Amino acid sequence: MSRPIPFSERMDILSKDKQSNLILAIDPIYGTNNLFSYVLNTITKLGKYLCAIKLNFHVILPLSFTELQKINLVAHRERLQVIADIKLNDIPNTNDVTIRYLHAMGFDSITVNPFIGKDNLKSTVISAHSLNCGIISLVYMSHSGANEGFGSSVSIQSLDGLTNTTSRFYNVFYENSKNCDVDGVIIGGNRLEVLSELSSKNLKKIPVYSPGLIKQGGDIKSALECGSDYLIIGRAIINSPDPLMELQNIYKLISHRFDKK
Ligand code: XMP
Repeated sequence: MSRPIPFSERMDILSKDKQSNLILAIDPIYGTNNLFSYVLNTITKLGKYLCAIKLNFHVILPLSFTELQKINLVAHRERLQVIADIKLNDIPNTNDVTIRYLHAMGFDSITVNPFIGKDNLKSTVISAHSLNCGIISLVYMSHSGANEGFGSSVSIQSLDGLTNTTSRFYNVFYENSKNCDVDGVIIGGNRLEVLSELSSKNLKKIPVYSPGLIKQGGDIKSALECGSDYLIIGRAIINSPDPLMELQNIYKLISHRFDKK
């Protein structure tokens, strides 16, 4: 029997095959008419230029279990992985039940807030991996206030309780994410210093997922140079008057990365 392919490998295979590291955040505006059809049409129209899509509360809250199952089925037919961006942040039992429902709907991976602590992050990863679902962990968010949490200092006591060292939350989150075998970390593509700093420590080569581009000020070329592996882009594409043309223009900026050497 063939072994199940882990999420990070599925992403790698699809992005090489489709020559795209682009992930579309399908975040329709509140009150979008015929939301289900809108999402399906967006996937079939744009899927060729993407390796994955990311669904957020914009879609997960209003649509039914069955509708989400159908969306994930169509996305898989288009050779797309699907990320549930719910920034899971709860006790292990609640995380486990949430993962089971999202997996039953067909999602391939789930975003998690590592603020839940190392042991809880580990059990969340184990729970997801038992279903061959991936976990992508927030390390530094892209929005303007992110430095208040992810960038603030934290004092860490040694195991024997005798010494204290100071670190930043994002360093702790990154180390914990690595040690817990997450399938990817999220670092804002507009956080170039953090991207560069953590990429230089990224010996294990954990894939870096970066939102925060275009609409939030991040530049695609700079983010890639500083260590982003996958680019998450939403409003700049889906709210454009011509989403397909906008996506094709962005695709032209990244596709050369996949040229055979
Ligand atoms: P835009 O429209 O700004 O959409 O291209 C970005 C998408 O990504 C989400 N987002 C984040 N998700 N960590 C995350 O896990 C982040 O730092 C972050 N910043 C933006 C946002 O909700 C939207 O779906």
